[in-house]
Amino acid sequence: MSGSGGRIPDSFIQSLLSKTDIVSVIQESVKLKKNGSNYSACCPFHQEKTPSFTVSPTKQFYHCFGCGMHGDVIRFLMDYQSLSFVDAVERLAGRIGLTVPKDPLEAAKAQVKLTTTMVLNRCAAFYAEKLKHHPEAKTAVAYLKKRGLTGKVAKQFQIGFAPSGWDNLLSFFQGDNGALKILEETGLIIKHPQGRFYDRFRERIMFPIRDRRGEVIGFGARVMDKSQPKYLNSPESSVFQKGHCMYGLYEALHSKQKWQTAIVVEGYLDVVALVQMGVTGVVATLGTAITTHHLSALFNLVDELVFCFDGDKAGQGAAWKALQLVLSFLTENRQVRFVFLPPGEDPDSYIRQYGAASFKSLINNGTSLSAYFFATLCEQIVPDSVDSRAHLASVARSMIERIPQGIFKEMMFEQLAKLVASTPQVVRGGKAFRSYYSPKGQTKIKVAPPPKPMETAYIASALLLRNPDLYGAWEGRSVFPSQIEAPGMEVFYQLMTLLNANLSAVQLREKLHEAGFELKRLVESEAKIALLPETGLEAEFIGALARLEVVGREQIAEKLLLKAKNMALTEEEKQKLKEFLQSRESNNSV
Ligand code: GTP
Ligand code: MN
Repeated sequence: MSGSGGRIPDSFIQSLLSKTDIVSVIQESVKLKKNGSNYSACCPFHQEKTPSFTVSPTKQFYHCFGCGMHGDVIRFLMDYQSLSFVDAVERLAGRIGLTVPKDPLEAAKAQVKLTTTMVLNRCAAFYAEKLKHHPEAKTAVAYLKKRGLTGKVAKQFQIGFAPSGWDNLLSFFQGDNGALKILEETGLIIKHPQGRFYDRFRERIMFPIRDRRGEVIGFGARVMDKSQPKYLNSPESSVFQKGHCMYGLYEALHSKQKWQTAIVVEGYLDVVALVQMGVTGVVATLGTAITTHHLSALFNLVDELVFCFDGDKAGQGAAWKALQLVLSFLTENRQVRFVFLPPGEDPDSYIRQYGAASFKSLINNGTSLSAYFFATLCEQIVPDSVDSRAHLASVARSMIERIPQGIFKEMMFEQLAKLVASTPQVVRGGKAFRSYYSPKGQTKIKVAPPPKPMETAYIASALLLRNPDLYGAWEGRSVFPSQIEAPGMEVFYQLMTLLNANLSAVQLREKLHEAGFELKRLVESEAKIALLPETGLEAEFIGALARLEVVGREQIAEKLLLKAKNMALTEEEKQKLKEFLQSRESNNSV
């Protein structure tokens, strides 16, 4: 639950929770209806037609009987808006005009970060100075010129040069033990097994990686020839986590235009080239795949993302990966596009060859997420048969389900339905796959849906749990529960047996749990009957028993018929069979 983490004092969380009304917060994004002392709504976390999402103002909790999502108001914001714990707390505090205090531990961490980045800033300045004045810098400058970089953009990105030699940085910080310790911690100097330290970066172009405030947190370093590895990056440290940081973020935040669209590319040099050519808002991950941290950071700043990866196989793979991750962020106000460069090109080579106008038009005309999504899926699963269409529908559905509730999600389901020649209701899994167009004749063919999994026994069990007094209603029926085979019948039978022992609903549930029953479907059925009024329970229970009885009688009749093929039935069996077969007709309508 909330309050963990040790970052923000617990007392503050508690006081924040006591000053916040969960109903009013949830109401801002979900339409709640008063229902007795609680509020209810169709659950925002899963697809449903009847409301099983309830909010309790007294307990300050929400709970969905359908999908099991539950928690307090902080949890709600974290799940519904994909916020981190700290961000959710900040959001709630902001609502009522409070500022979140940082605990002493947090303050100490901030201090460490400050001293660390101060040393790293000095390193960046050291490398930048070497690019200007070191005798070896000529090759570096020539290399950057060859790559098309201007002095201006090199300065803007604080690009530097690490000369040859094992102890340039080391000598620069000689005697400053505090700084040397930080250099070791951040991996700029490395301890040799024999005890001496040496510089990590030698004979490389240095790209300082800065946080959003412009403090240097690490480096990327490129060779100037064909040797390997092409890039060497700082290892992770207390201030540098690759899954969180992005190259170019500081520049994107501080460009003159308001940042509206984030362009995500793969390489440092792509960022630099695009910015030099007047394309702003460009960021790159640090040679790793994009993470949800990256996405949530970007979506906190802009509503539009364009992924522009290299036109090779790796780029394609990266794009599909990014798509999977971005789905859960796609609220209506947000847009995502994909740009695929010609094979062999990256953003840097493209913009230098074809110019900024051409590149910008690529960005503005990128493939929409939905087009890319469906095109890629159709390549993977060609929808040329009922089977493949059903497969495609189910793969697509599992992905579309990650999109937050809203118009965009609805539209994706509609598009999927068109693609597999079905209806939105069917592809979202509410009903079985029912009709399709034959590929040749476009004639509509009806296919009977597979029978719905029977839930009567679960419903009956749920009713029993809600009111164990209903137990007596089985009396006088022609079939015993033990003779019926139906989903959930074991749970029901177990309950009936336990009820002889006069247990409470809570005890019953515990017993079921102890007996190892899978209770998911029972819980679902409980949600379904939760809204039934007390007075309707008995009629519902008797109806369920009648349906189960019919199933049991059918099953017994089938067994007797089978037996009669091979041997004579007893008089009693004959009598029963006759009776059950006679009542078949009239019961078929139940
Ligand atoms: P150029 O090849 O000079 O145009 O650089 P680039 O920035 O376009 O690099 P590329 O597209 O080849 O790679 C994209 C990113 O992956 C780079 O910016 C690095 O972050 C990372 N990367 C590439 N090669 C290496 C490597 O050898 N080691 C590591 N650690 N990262 C690499
Ligand atoms: Mn490149």
